[in-house]
Amino acid sequence: MAEKMHAKRTAKCGALRKSDVGNEVTLCGWVAKRRNLGSLLFIDLRDVSGVCQITFDDTVDKALFEKANSVRGEYVLCVSGTVRERGSDANTKMATGAVEVLASNLSILSKAETPPFEITGECNANEELRLKYRYLDLRRAELKEALVMRHRVCKLARDYYDENGFLEIETPILCKSTPEGARDYLVPSRVHNGSFYALPQSPQLYKQLLMVSGYDRYMQIARCFRDEDLRADRQPEFTQIDLEMSFVDVDDVISVNEGFIKKIFKDVLNVEIEAPFLRMPYREAMDRFGSDKPDLRFGFEIKDITDVVKNSTFKVFAEAVACGNTVRGIKVDGYADKISRKEIDSLNEFAKTYRAKGVAWLKLANGEILSSFVKFITEDEKNAIISAFDAKDNDLILIVADKPKTVFASLGALRCEIAKRLGVIKKNDFKLLWVTEFPLFEYDDEENRYVAMHHPFTSPMDEDADFIESAPDKVRAKAYDIILNGVELGGGSIRISDEDLQKRMFKAIGISEEEARAKFGYLLDAFTFGVPPHGGMAYGLDRFVMLLADKPSIRDVIAFPKVQNASELMTECPSEVPEKSLVELGIEISKKEE
Ligand code: AMO
Repeated sequence: MAEKMHAKRTAKCGALRKSDVGNEVTLCGWVAKRRNLGSLLFIDLRDVSGVCQITFDDTVDKALFEKANSVRGEYVLCVSGTVRERGSDANTKMATGAVEVLASNLSILSKAETPPFEITGECNANEELRLKYRYLDLRRAELKEALVMRHRVCKLARDYYDENGFLEIETPILCKSTPEGARDYLVPSRVHNGSFYALPQSPQLYKQLLMVSGYDRYMQIARCFRDEDLRADRQPEFTQIDLEMSFVDVDDVISVNEGFIKKIFKDVLNVEIEAPFLRMPYREAMDRFGSDKPDLRFGFEIKDITDVVKNSTFKVFAEAVACGNTVRGIKVDGYADKISRKEIDSLNEFAKTYRAKGVAWLKLANGEILSSFVKFITEDEKNAIISAFDAKDNDLILIVADKPKTVFASLGALRCEIAKRLGVIKKNDFKLLWVTEFPLFEYDDEENRYVAMHHPFTSPMDEDADFIESAPDKVRAKAYDIILNGVELGGGSIRISDEDLQKRMFKAIGISEEEARAKFGYLLDAFTFGVPPHGGMAYGLDRFVMLLADKPSIRDVIAFPKVQNASELMTECPSEVPEKSLVELGIEISKKEE
């Protein structure tokens, strides 16, 4: 039978230091390690704060020594004893390594089975097993540190925005479905059979309504749900630090948020970030980096050589230009000797996954030119290309000729992939920038219509608003994303606060007046009762912590994450429900998964 605690806990395992020497303490925790050296037995006891060594001495208390000897890994103990110095035996790798506790009493609060994987030290178990036993995985120091950091970021967010006049206000989780953006998670209603709530993709409309209600500055650490394909930085449920402000324009939102980001970096990582951050219009980001979330930790920028090769004798270039496509390339400067022919072939295959038909390359090596295409072009054209890139010895040029979308996607991905393969990205290098002036619309080839690039409540830039009907492609939005090391940390916009402009926006994206009323009638109505100019943004909290903690996936900073197919391996959800529940909901399952 499990024993009771023989005394109340007086200290945390990870907190003991030299200054505690001589103190009587009672610790509680899990057995991380146990070593029996004959007359001395050591137990490393772990709790949320860290690990501490407990010593049992056979010559001091034989019965206690025997009891400690019966203890196994992950047993839960309550131990009392005296803190003493380890002296020459000190373990400099442990925060508590200068001291140990000489045990005088021990209660075994819970026994434990052998865990399915090693909890102490590095864990080699596959992620699936670790997620099935997530509660064990969460005992590991690495995950614990990430969750502690996550807590700190939330706490700092609440404090910072509070100090800046924001109120934290909760918004509903059971909402009206608004099928714009990602797919909604739907919740069937028992009371209204055949009707559904949606889980919020974000609190967007509620926070705008709070501005109409006069709350001025809102923030919320808000859970969001999106039924979309998952990646390392995407989960079906994730958390936003969500904000909205009244009587502001772009600069006001950016400025208060630069203060927040500076504070997070200083308080969490002790890293000083210079403000104001760089701002880059979307068009420039695409032209130079092929991405609206450029990673600025390395160069390899994109150059447009369409004009240079428009009369090329190399068919691939000439034909691309002739049919209105674009020819662009990147210069990997100073690394040609590190990129072999085989590596170039592999980069070519990599680019194909971004729909590029291929990559034309040219290498300057020891005064020689190696290339996949120089044999098809004239000496003059070759020199013109080299000079367009300002290429020097030991540079490699990679060129893609295709539709602009394909060229940007493939070159943008190539520059990141090459930087990764070459190992040129330094640790603890944080490059932040705002990408601004996004297009208001993008054309959806599948639906044959313009759609809102952010969401339909995003305001156009004042000078572009007149073109909504005549040249939608030209219209830029008062939208901004904050980018950290090539990851979209957050984004937002100034909203439309004019009923007529909102109607024109809906019309431009093919939402009829009836449809707009059916979906967003309450917002349109609200705007008729006095609406302040307003705007805001939302950070992906999981992504922010992932980058601060230097983790490869947001799963590493979420206590109970889901896997690729959106299931949770520990609780095995989603799961079937009793027939009775379905009947109550008026639901019949027509397609059952095998
Ligand atoms: P957006 O859709 O850009 O904007 O989302 C804001 C930020 O949330 C994070 N994010 C995600 N994180 C993890 N998993 C996901 N599936 C996921 N999707 C988004 C990203 C992103 O930058 N309401 C607007 C904000 C606004 O305009 O104020 C919104 O939700 O870091």
